[in-house]
Amino acid sequence: MSAAGEPRRDDAGGEPRRGDAADDPRAFYTSGYAVADPAEAERLGRWRALGARSKAAHAFQLCNRVGLFPTTLVEIGCGDGSLLAELSGLAAVVDGFELSPTAIELARRRGIPGARRLEAYDGTRVPAGDGTYDLAVVSHVLEHVPEPAPLLAEAARVASHVLVEVPLEANRSAARPAKRDEAARIGHLHAFDRAQVQALLAQTGLTPVADLSDPLPYAHHAFFGRKLPAAIKWAVRYALWRAAPRRAERLFTVHYAVLAR
Ligand SMILES: C[S@@+](CC[C@H](N)C(=O)[O-])C[C@H]1O[C@@H](n2cnc3c(N)ncnc32)[C@H](O)[C@@H]1O
Repeated sequence: MSAAGEPRRDDAGGEPRRGDAADDPRAFYTSGYAVADPAEAERLGRWRALGARSKAAHAFQLCNRVGLFPTTLVEIGCGDGSLLAELSGLAAVVDGFELSPTAIELARRRGIPGARRLEAYDGTRVPAGDGTYDLAVVSHVLEHVPEPAPLLAEAARVASHVLVEVPLEANRSAARPAKRDEAARIGHLHAFDRAQVQALLAQTGLTPVADLSDPLPYAHHAFFGRKLPAAIKWAVRYALWRAAPRRAERLFTVHYAVLAR
């Protein structure tokens, strides 16, 4: 999650974080999911659930557009399972693999319908055979990994279709020092633009079949802030995005989802 993703304070979990996302990613994300304060955990849960609904809507929309009706789906980097729970309506089998064992424990507690395997793994080699799944979902993960191409190649190895979603953060708003600090704090190692995502797909031998961008609904902008400024921000961004989507994504962050095979 990120904003258009702002506020984006819990992108990979909660606080505080230990270590560095690049030096010790497992420790970094595990500490992010281990939130002791119940009120904070509840708030982060609501934020993740809100993000999951948007992300799942993107997945349903793109699959519908190309007539893809997956039976088996895997989410790589599934975190606490908030998105996977929403995706359980998209496929009969919804497995999840994740770097952080703490996050996987949270995902298991959800009792997600159709989840056969919810497992922590080494973040490198997905523990599934070639072509096991109809669809692999890699949502808001590539910007967190030092080398996105090998992770994407793993997704392409285990599934015939791959759905990638990232925040496009190569824009003027996200270039401001406070925004860059915030992105770094939550573990973003890359600020992608659309062309870079497409180049990554091409490098992995994946061909895009459908894509979309989303400046995100009002509820995302209002989650941490005051309602009136959030409403104004949302209305301005939405109008700019409707009028000129490609220009808008050079000004502020939108979420970009692309389905490839
Ligand atoms: C921002 S969260 C996204 C969670 C979920 N996919 C979503 O869209 O809501 C990023 C997740 O990627 C996980 N992650 C980071 N590096 C990973 C890797 N190499 N393999 C799998 N998961 C990884 C983190 O532990 C974290 O749970």
